[in-house]
Amino acid sequence: MLKGKDILNTAQFSAEELSLIMDTAADYEQKVKNHEVIRDMEGRVVACLFFEPSTRTRLSFETAANRVGARAISVSSAGSSSAAKGETLVDTIRTIDGYIDVIVMRHPEIGSAKIAADNALHPVINAGDGSGQHPTQALLDIYTIRKEKGSLEGHTVTFLGDLKYGRTVHSLGYFMTLYKNKMFFVSPESLRMPEELTADFRNRGAEIVETEDINEALSKSDIVYVTRVQRERFADPAEYERLKGSYIIDQKVISKAKKGMTILHPLPRVDEISTDVDDYEGAAYFRQAHNGMYVRMALLALVSGAR
Ligand code: NCD
Repeated sequence: MLKGKDILNTAQFSAEELSLIMDTAADYEQKVKNHEVIRDMEGRVVACLFFEPSTRTRLSFETAANRVGARAISVSSAGSSSAAKGETLVDTIRTIDGYIDVIVMRHPEIGSAKIAADNALHPVINAGDGSGQHPTQALLDIYTIRKEKGSLEGHTVTFLGDLKYGRTVHSLGYFMTLYKNKMFFVSPESLRMPEELTADFRNRGAEIVETEDINEALSKSDIVYVTRVQRERFADPAEYERLKGSYIIDQKVISKAKKGMTILHPLPRVDEISTDVDDYEGAAYFRQAHNGMYVRMALLALVSGAR
């Protein structure tokens, strides 16, 4: 179903494809936990091209490639590749495409993953294109929701923080519409979810409430998805300084929230979740990061046709 496909955005997926990815990830999770050696991608090579900083996404993709039997090669910064010499993305991709079987790429420009996909014969997986999309994060987010909540449907979910530049919420919003979840968008006025996305979600049948009132939203939410204010996307550093502490999840906020609320965050966190919340049983963000490896194992194996 996914063999040979590029993974560029979350609007592209059918519910059947998502079930296949989730079930394959769950199968790999079991195998890894049983210490099984997996050879599904033996003999293949995955390129991890990261032209923007990354800890979880790059290392979990590299680990995923290794654990599924492939090998990984990496570019871990724009400065360490010929991009620094002025090579175009198209030329870089056309070159690497001849070495490998799957390309995973993170790049600061919106739309860069599509350009890469248009110039590669092998599948391209978007690991974040500027403030555009981050589909593999959203896949691990729904895998986590399924594990933490037992199902994907019927939840009320608050997206909190930088909804303008945060690519993870742009991606996850599409999945929430697919599973009929109600959404609260809580952000400072200047960091609201882009209008065209809100309109797109609504066209897909989503019920959305936009507010600046965190307590109102969290008193009704089964899940809060917290995001970092995306410092690197601000033209004006003073504007970042003004907005960075707008919303902070701490014990006090949790005490007023709906009981049993799950807290998700793609990480890295700066100060938007206080560390004293980490022991709260609904704080799922490190479990969420761990789930990323299984989901990425599944994706690599499926797009390369190894499963
Ligand atoms: C996110 C990203 O890169 O968009 N991080 C991640 O991949 N887990 C979120 C962020 O950087 O704030």
